[in-house]
Amino acid sequence: MERTLPPLILGIESSCDDTSAAVIRGSQVLSNVVANQALHAEVGGVVPEWASRAHLSKIHPVVQAALDKSGIKASELDAVAYTLGPGLQGSLHVGTSYAKSFAWGLGIPSIPVHHMRAHILAHVLEPGDPPAYPFLCLTVSGGHTQLVKVNAPNDMEVLGQTLDDAAGEAFDKVAKLIGLPYPGGPVVDKLAKQGDPNAFAFSRPRMEGYNWSFSGLKTQVLNFLQREQAKDNQFVASRQDDICASVQAAILDMLMAPLRQAVEDTGITEVAIAGGVSANSGLRARLADAERQHGWTVHIPPMAYCTDNAAMIAAVGWLDVMESRSGTLDAAPSPRLPELTSLASKEET
Ligand code: KG4
Ligand code: ZN
Repeated sequence: MERTLPPLILGIESSCDDTSAAVIRGSQVLSNVVANQALHAEVGGVVPEWASRAHLSKIHPVVQAALDKSGIKASELDAVAYTLGPGLQGSLHVGTSYAKSFAWGLGIPSIPVHHMRAHILAHVLEPGDPPAYPFLCLTVSGGHTQLVKVNAPNDMEVLGQTLDDAAGEAFDKVAKLIGLPYPGGPVVDKLAKQGDPNAFAFSRPRMEGYNWSFSGLKTQVLNFLQREQAKDNQFVASRQDDICASVQAAILDMLMAPLRQAVEDTGITEVAIAGGVSANSGLRARLADAERQHGWTVHIPPMAYCTDNAAMIAAVGWLDVMESRSGTLDAAPSPRLPELTSLASKEET
């Protein structure tokens, strides 16, 4: 009998410190459960060993919760999609092993997914308004910063990337210097709203092409804070808002410059953002300004699909299933995966 409904996909994400599972039917998200690992906040960064252990204890209840919320029985699923990489090796192993065993037990395909490709393709999920191809995507997360020309779901060109720290890492490292908890991005964003972005001037180095370098900013902020604290030991405590606003303005100026350049060079005005830092209210406002002032068509994901989530992993699974792609049980997780192409192979017809 011919299928009338889009396939039901279970997505599993465990690349860093969020354990997540989701069920989608085509572009419709039926459930998307994310369990954050608060335990890392006390040390100001993700401890890989702790992350793997937490995934191990959370993955089963999170998958069960995603199935319960969706109202779908495991036996109704058509495929299981999971993050193969990039990410933390131990964390990836937990999701990968669980997903492959789960799919194998049900006799359905398991689909390995590239985490960064999933951030970009989260835009196909409802209630979004999917970008038209080709579009430019600024992918900004805790581990990556890339400018990608997306010609089709399985045809992506990386035009530029960070040469050192990722944009999210820049937010997190500066937040740590100011004494803010991990992850620092959301806190800096919040405090920046009450501060003056022109209070302190940090330089905005520009790399060749569409590349970035954020590591100098951290050093610059560190030297600045040490100098000011030496004069007044209440400096950081009393000027937190202004420091956050000034640092955020520098990061956003740096992020926007190659994006603007790429729009000019390629003539592509269909522009999307993706990844954890796309939750930043300042970045969202800059994109909205560019839409008004320069006629860009801007695509900003709903908050739930900005930071790590399994719905975006399931979305890639759906697109791969539609192309008759599937993975094999020997797919091994990898902390580094340079290509943004599908990791599943096309079945011979
Ligand atoms: O995509 P994501 O959830 O995980 C990775 O794949 O890395 O991104 C996490 C990053 C963290 O660095 C976090 O500080 C940053 O996204 N982030 C933000 C905001 N929300 C999350 N950065 C700036 N402003 C935010 N509102
Ligand atoms: Zn991510």
